[in-house]
Amino acid sequence: MSVAVIGAGIAGISAASHLHEAGVSVHIFDKSRGTGGRMSSKRTEQGEFDIGTQYFTARHSAFRAAVEYWQEQGWITRWQPRLYRIDEQGLQRSDDDQPRYVGTPRMTALSRGLLGDMPLHSATRIAALQRAESGWLLVDTKAQTYGPYQQVIVATPAPQTVPLLEAAPALANAAKQAQMEPGWAVSVGFEAPLAVELDAAFVRCGPLDWVCANHSKPGRSEAANWVLQSTPAWASDHLDTPAHEVAQQLVDALAQALGIALPAIRFLHAHRWLYARPADDCEWGALAAPDLNLYACGDWCQSGRLEGAWLSGREAAQVLLGKR
Ligand code: FAD
Ligand code: NAI
Repeated sequence: MSVAVIGAGIAGISAASHLHEAGVSVHIFDKSRGTGGRMSSKRTEQGEFDIGTQYFTARHSAFRAAVEYWQEQGWITRWQPRLYRIDEQGLQRSDDDQPRYVGTPRMTALSRGLLGDMPLHSATRIAALQRAESGWLLVDTKAQTYGPYQQVIVATPAPQTVPLLEAAPALANAAKQAQMEPGWAVSVGFEAPLAVELDAAFVRCGPLDWVCANHSKPGRSEAANWVLQSTPAWASDHLDTPAHEVAQQLVDALAQALGIALPAIRFLHAHRWLYARPADDCEWGALAAPDLNLYACGDWCQSGRLEGAWLSGREAAQVLLGKR
């Protein structure tokens, strides 16, 4: 059996690795240069910044077992930050017992590890699927075709899934219903460490949702690099605000939230995620049109967390293999 997986985020990589383990030949396609999708890191002369997934937790037993294996492989490490909560009352220490994990030395170490020796067609944006006699052809934006593949799994964010699944209207309509929310992520490198005792904080006032000292994560550079994430509501209201203005506004919000004067800035960048997270959790697991040999998965089919995306990819593989 030959399968094409479109999307090398954790959902697509999870689907592909489960199929690969079952002896299926899988080809993976992604429009980016590498794997990981929203688990991405920005590399700069001042060191790296995790501008997508910040960390992940593990609740489902199957995911917990996978996490244990990934730790043994050295792809991920437990991260134990000094956690705070910031609201109108100020800063409160908010440590808990929740195990949290990060890819090491960067988030994508996990997707790279899972990819192993499976073939990846990177920098290849798939524009359409074409029916052929013996399966599906993938057509990229340069009109190059790949395949035929007997089965196709689309593992892209919901809005990007819709045009790829025109041949399966039930799946395309479901993807259309899945609303995804935006988010801004600002990378800010300071010339000196901040005069605070915290590594990360859940923010519950103003435009910020989360602030994190990237250098507190294992394997990262020691530079005073911080990542600031906006709430989805603030991002919706500032979708077209120029990136440099967003960056400055979120840095100002950081100074206000921490109640300190910030050191000079060496590096500043804002990244807009149009499809940062699904607006709601959902119980689809994965979507399937087995008569057409088409499947869809991603965080929007389960929950807007790395675990949800991995479980969704696993489910797509299991349905395809007839295990569900
Ligand atoms: P993606 O990672 O989006 O993968 C989809 C892939 O498809 C991408 O690589 C993309 O390039 C590719 N693609 C799209 N269209 C095409 C096409 N036409 N052709 C080829 N390739 C295509 N989760 C947590 O658990 N903890 C967190 O702390 C956390 N923080 C987050 C912070 C931010 C800023 C964001 C944006 C997300 C965060 N998440 C977090 C959510 C988590 O990152 C996602 O749930 C998860 O990574 C989604 O994986 P996915 O494979 O479903 O999608
Ligand atoms: P988790 O269990 O650590 O956090 C879940 C939520 O519970 C947090 O967002 C926070 O509101 C609250 N919380 C947890 N621990 C807390 C503590 N010690 N003190 C105060 N509040 C606490 O992680 P989970 O469920 O795995 O979620 C992952 C994270 O990913 C969440 O923070 C979520 O908001 C974030 N996320 C961010 C996205 C973005 O675009 N910025 C997209 C998707 C997820």
